[in-house]
Amino acid sequence: MTQKADDASVWPMGLCVFCGLPAAGKTTVARALSDCLEKQKGWLCVRLTYDDLMPPEAFSQSETSQEGQQSLAYNWKFYRHELLVYLEHFLQALIKGYHYLPPPKGTEVTWKNFVGCLKEQGLISLGADDTVSCQHLINITALRPTYFILDDNFYYRSMRYEVYQLARKYSLGFCQLFLDCQVEICLQRNCQRTQPLPEETIYAMAQKLEVPNSEKYTWEQNSLIFKSSEDTLEENLQMLNFLSFTLENPVKPLEENTEFKEADRALCAASFLHQADQSVRRIVSQTMKNAKDNNLAASEMKSLAQELNKLKVGFLEDLKHQYNEKKQCYSSSILATNTSLFHQQSNDIAKKYLSGM
Ligand SMILES: *[C@@H]1O[C@H](CO)[C@@H](O)[C@H](O)[C@H]1NC(C)=O
Ligand SMILES: *[C@@H]1O[C@H](CO)[C@@H](O)[C@H](O)[C@H]1NC(C)=O
Repeated sequence: MTQKADDASVWPMGLCVFCGLPAAGKTTVARALSDCLEKQKGWLCVRLTYDDLMPPEAFSQSETSQEGQQSLAYNWKFYRHELLVYLEHFLQALIKGYHYLPPPKGTEVTWKNFVGCLKEQGLISLGADDTVSCQHLINITALRPTYFILDDNFYYRSMRYEVYQLARKYSLGFCQLFLDCQVEICLQRNCQRTQPLPEETIYAMAQKLEVPNSEKYTWEQNSLIFKSSEDTLEENLQMLNFLSFTLENPVKPLEENTEFKEADRALCAASFLHQADQSVRRIVSQTMKNAKDNNLAASEMKSLAQELNKLKVGFLEDLKHQYNEKKQCYSSSILATNTSLFHQQSNDIAKKYLSGM
């Protein structure tokens, strides 16, 4: 069983973030997309509908005080994060071929909802002997190229970035689908729901919504805008190609992100050279103080200072040059070796002056 589940890692997997206002039609599109990908590509789409997964506390609107609003935002954030942890945990189980166990920490309701959602979509089942340990078996026959659709409003870019980081961590495909829908239409549809949201909530979200911007944020390059009123899925070849492309071109892990590495290295160099500079200055002033304590004549003091300064400048220049050549971070032990060498050289110079007295 474990043997076969290992094969899960050979299937491409991706995370698809749906974002848009409440009642923009995200859940309907997610369902249609799921059917379409299943039929046309034979892929699996796992729909994670946050509205269904979140426990009622996450939505509680009873408190209206300042603190109440803060705690509402806090609740939502807390459960949203928890769902991502569950998803990561499940991804690990898929990748490593382990059985799926409840994570050590978590809210019971959310966990039940999450597991229920995976079960309903045929991905896991409770093993016959596993009712006590709550161990679930991964349904191997269900495995194939898989997109997880995260169906929530994701109105802030930072919320979506967390999902991107998860994709990057496990080298998964990543894409964003923005459901573009006019506020008026969302409000109309919202009214027809059994549990409509307050209008202010939708207006407030429309204000805050950060539409994916692939020009400004490279990590948002795989984003598609979908006008639910005009576009139909069946004919939307662009959408299918987009999803194929993003699934087959997963996010590269951080190490290969050279831009980041460059920035990191520059920081590293700056701090190393700064430390070297500080140490060397200290050594020079210590050597000068020593010479003064030994009553070196003022004129001699002056040329000693000049000589030490020349040594210092040359030393720091060499260090900088060596650093740029190697293009790697130096450890503090190298710094210590370098500065002790400098210390010795400056002592030798000072000795020369003092022995000539
Ligand atoms: C396992 O997956 C297959 C293929 O998707 C499905 O037909 C079957 O019902 C699933 N089994 C369970 C126990 O969910
Ligand atoms: C610093 O230390 C490294 C490692 O010992 C050595 O290769 C390098 O030449 C030293 N640089 C200077 C300027 O002393």
